[in-house]
Amino acid sequence: MASSLSLFLILTSLTIFFHLSHSATQILQPQGSTGIHLYIKKNSTSHTHQYYTTLILGDRDPSTLNIIRNEVNVVIDLGGQLAWINCDQYNSTSYCPIQCGSRKCTAAKGIGCVGCNRSPPRPGCTNNTCGSYAFNPLSNELFSAGLGEDLMEVYSTDGKSEIVSNTVPEYPFSCGDSSQLKGLAFGTIGMVGLARSKTSLPAQIAAAIKLPHPDKFALCIPSSTKTGFGDIFIGGGPYYMFPFTKDLSKLLATTPLLINPVSTAPIYSQADASDEYFIDVKFIRVDGVRLGSLNTSLLAIDKQGNGGTKLSTVAPHTILQSSIYQSVVNKFVKAATSKKIKRVASVSPFGACFDSKTIGTSKTGPDVPIIDLVFQKGVYWRIYGANSMVRVNNGTVLCLGFVDGGAKPRTSVVIGGHQLENYLLEFDLGSSMLGFSSSLLVHDTNCSHNRFFQ
Ligand SMILES: *[C@@H]1O[C@H](CO)[C@@H](O)[C@H](O)[C@H]1NC(C)=O
Ligand SMILES: *[C@@H]1O[C@H](CO)[C@@H](O)[C@H](O)[C@H]1NC(C)=O
Ligand SMILES: *[C@@H]1O[C@H](CO)[C@@H](O)[C@H](O)[C@H]1NC(C)=O
Ligand SMILES: *[C@@H]1O[C@H](CO)[C@@H](O)[C@H](O)[C@H]1NC(C)=O
Ligand SMILES: *[C@@H]1O[C@H](CO)[C@@H](O)[C@H](O)[C@H]1NC(C)=O
Ligand SMILES: *[C@@H]1O[C@H](CO)[C@@H](O)[C@H](O)[C@H]1NC(C)=O
Repeated sequence: MASSLSLFLILTSLTIFFHLSHSATQILQPQGSTGIHLYIKKNSTSHTHQYYTTLILGDRDPSTLNIIRNEVNVVIDLGGQLAWINCDQYNSTSYCPIQCGSRKCTAAKGIGCVGCNRSPPRPGCTNNTCGSYAFNPLSNELFSAGLGEDLMEVYSTDGKSEIVSNTVPEYPFSCGDSSQLKGLAFGTIGMVGLARSKTSLPAQIAAAIKLPHPDKFALCIPSSTKTGFGDIFIGGGPYYMFPFTKDLSKLLATTPLLINPVSTAPIYSQADASDEYFIDVKFIRVDGVRLGSLNTSLLAIDKQGNGGTKLSTVAPHTILQSSIYQSVVNKFVKAATSKKIKRVASVSPFGACFDSKTIGTSKTGPDVPIIDLVFQKGVYWRIYGANSMVRVNNGTVLCLGFVDGGAKPRTSVVIGGHQLENYLLEFDLGSSMLGFSSSLLVHDTNCSHNRFFQ
């Protein structure tokens, strides 16, 4: 107890020192030469997990010197268009509501006007304000709340450490209340979207700060809840994941990001394309063998926007359309059995579970049959045991971490968080390409770092 308290104090004082020392290093990092970095943290409970980041919003409180007024933990939604937070405790003199009918309201796909009869107004309760919608995919609830904007502080990075603070002067977010938080991990008070929209976090940072590659952002999603944090890089590489010493931006395989012609957002107009990230999985291999029975038309996106494969950070595990799920499970069980792995009773929501004592370990996790998602031109994404298997029942059982999405889901394959951990994923919206590394475990590293201290 005592040691963790003192560690906390050391970390806090180093952080303050760090925050105070920006102006000294500023000269070394001219704007536009580096990208921006935010941390990704993971919260895990026995049932599920979520990834979140911390936004530093609003002005600093002059009465308490350098203390930031609003450090806001928000769950990361790769497919989300706009950030929203519970503004009940939000306090900032620089907060500014966005007027209904304004250009910014239109850019945020505002819906009408919200008013709030309170004097004086406070964030989340202002008159004549652009109504924005906030979607919570974890409770599947849609809310309308006032749109506002405030300063946001972000740090630039050389791909190794965080360097200097930069200000995004007008970061827009929807200002709701505590009723919206159902399903969110403890300590988080909203969500932040990374979709291909004008109001997403990467787009807003790129609009405010000169970046080497304004169309690029990258994620390194951590598996650990304890040691270090994952990364959001905005504006391009390099990306370093110590102890691996090479720049990962140079080691990425690429596959096109597809545009689904029909929006997958909860509210949209007929003309809207989806701003989520779809990729073109052509077929799936288990243990090196192509699944022959897959209905390949499910893997394509049809004219109504159904089918295809998208990436999601809010789905904890990959969700497969029933027939795809059955093929993967059947082949996986067969291949596992031939490796003398013993199947045991299933543990919900998973359908194929095994006795962990019968599974060996390797540096890429439990030694189970490998799953490959194969794209065009033979490019593939290889999923090893660390990403395919989920530990349940106190580690005595390992389950194949895919779930059955039913016969007719909107999207046939939703690649979820557990399968995205410890890969470097780079979204290039300029060329519409996804760059992805092999599992970082192959390189004896992972997505858990603390970039303050390198
Ligand atoms: C907001 O911050 C100011 C200045 O620190 C303080 O005077 C005020 O009471 C705070 N308001 C709320 C609602 O916390
Ligand atoms: C908000 O608008 C309503 C209706 O126009 C008005 O009655 C009310 O006084 C306004 N409240 C504030 C705080 O300006
Ligand atoms: C993670 O979230 C759960 C559910 O909200 C909460 O019970 C738990 O305390 C959180 N863990 C941490 C480390 O914050
Ligand atoms: C394959 O999937 C498509 C799209 O859902 C469906 O229309 C078709 O009937 C399926 N084909 C077979 C052989 O199941
Ligand atoms: C999990 O394992 C720990 C250590 O072996 C043990 O103390 C605990 O009772 C186990 N819990 C359950 C639910 O089996
Ligand atoms: C991540 O990699 C570092 C360096 O190899 C190692 O010390 C750490 O234990 C790893 N963490 C996880 C969660 O795998």
